[in-house]
Amino acid sequence: MRCSLLLAASAATSVLAFPWMTPEGLDALMKHPSAQEEVKRKLAEYEAGKADNIEARQVGTGLVPGVVSLLGGTPTAVYDNVLGLIPTGDSVKGLKKFPEAEYPFKAPGPTDQRGPCPGLNTLANHGYIPRNGIATIGQINAGTARLFNMGADLSSLLATGGALDGGDILSQKMSIGGPDNRVGVLNGALNSVFGTPTGIAGHGKFNEGDASATRLDFYLNNGDNIVFVPELFKQMHQQALAKGNGTYSVDAIQEHFKNRYRDSRAANSQFYFNLPSAGVVMGAYYFIPGFFSNGTIGAGGVANEASITSFYGAKPKDTSANAWQNPDLEYTHVPERIPEQGWYRRATPMTIPEAVAGILDVYLYAKPAIGGAGADQNWVVGPVDIPNNPQALSCFLYNALYANFPGDLFNSLSLLSSIVSTLSSTIVPGYKALGCKVDFPQATGKGSTYRSVYESWAKTYTGEAKTKAVGSGWYQK
Ligand code: HEM
Repeated sequence: MRCSLLLAASAATSVLAFPWMTPEGLDALMKHPSAQEEVKRKLAEYEAGKADNIEARQVGTGLVPGVVSLLGGTPTAVYDNVLGLIPTGDSVKGLKKFPEAEYPFKAPGPTDQRGPCPGLNTLANHGYIPRNGIATIGQINAGTARLFNMGADLSSLLATGGALDGGDILSQKMSIGGPDNRVGVLNGALNSVFGTPTGIAGHGKFNEGDASATRLDFYLNNGDNIVFVPELFKQMHQQALAKGNGTYSVDAIQEHFKNRYRDSRAANSQFYFNLPSAGVVMGAYYFIPGFFSNGTIGAGGVANEASITSFYGAKPKDTSANAWQNPDLEYTHVPERIPEQGWYRRATPMTIPEAVAGILDVYLYAKPAIGGAGADQNWVVGPVDIPNNPQALSCFLYNALYANFPGDLFNSLSLLSSIVSTLSSTIVPGYKALGCKVDFPQATGKGSTYRSVYESWAKTYTGEAKTKAVGSGWYQK
């Protein structure tokens, strides 16, 4: 596997699996007194607070039983033909209404980070997470729970993936957009040595992938996978009209994903659609009706035009009353915000089983090949044995997150490896709660035994595509 080759040749290569950690950087970290001090301090802090943090993250998570029955469209949704207002009185009864006065909308300033995720952008634009778009795992957990009712297990998985693969593992901070010098070892003070973490928009790592709903592929847009693309939103709107009775229902977004995958793969010679990021991409499609619906999906909540356009910052060029019925309606982009006319948050937390059932709904409809384009236009497969039930797939995705870690980093620096494994404990409670049988291999060992265990783990959960696809991005910076 490429990781071990890199290790053997670590001094000579300029390409590392952990792109912001150059060999020189790793070496410097070992020798740098303030970094060492900070590393030890953080480690002690994590160790001391571990039990408390884990308890706190699990409070109120409660796995939702029978959640799969909520999927497959919005079966009991009451259709709102006055798109833009509240679905029905009954369907939002008892639900918490937004916006809240203490969290006013404010457009981002020039140095504020915004990224490919309309959920996080909205949270930052209302101050639920820091408005500068640099947030910790804890701040993201708190903000996503408060505004969207995201379960702590799900937000921990997403945000931990973001911090580990695109942020700073010591401070647990990440940019919700691209690289930012305020993030990094010692708040970025050593970024000139280590390089700057990529932010959650880092391509093909944990979160960001190709065939997104409204963003173009990294390779197709000169590395800009953040900017909202009105033409793609228009295509999604067309599916809302064609498949969702004018709403952005599960049926509508499934069709949009199927088309996006087809188009991206055809156009992108560096197409990369592998786990875990492919899971996040498909999950994000489900998040559109799952979180942005006005009211609870499956219980009368509807992902109507007013809700979706507001959270996406998609501003119709024609604002006349029936313009939404026009499939050729054009959009521009404005900052993402909670619908001003009022919007109701879903009633139950979305936990991992629901999100994964949503991924499966999208996946089984489109049946996309998982993997990536290799050299000479061949196709390199991702993991070959992907389960197709929510429980087993949930465990599989946790394992894929772990498998996506850079094995050579663990081997190179045992101190950092301890931090990584300590930090990964932020997600272990959710993993255990699901009854996942296999445990992560220990990330503490040095040498060939550990490497071979890690490599076989990585092969099972991320497949050949992780190292052999040309568009993995991960290896290219
Ligand atoms: C908990 C932390 C979260 C992280 C780290 C995160 C990260 C991301 C990333 C990296 C993407 C890009 C995926 C792609 O390439 O398609 C994305 C997309 C998306 N996210 Fe999030 N997200 C989080 C929470 C949320 C929440 C709470 C919502 C909804 C309320 C949300 C809704 C979406 C949607 C709809 C997209 C698709 C964007 C598009 O291409 O149109 N996310 N997210």
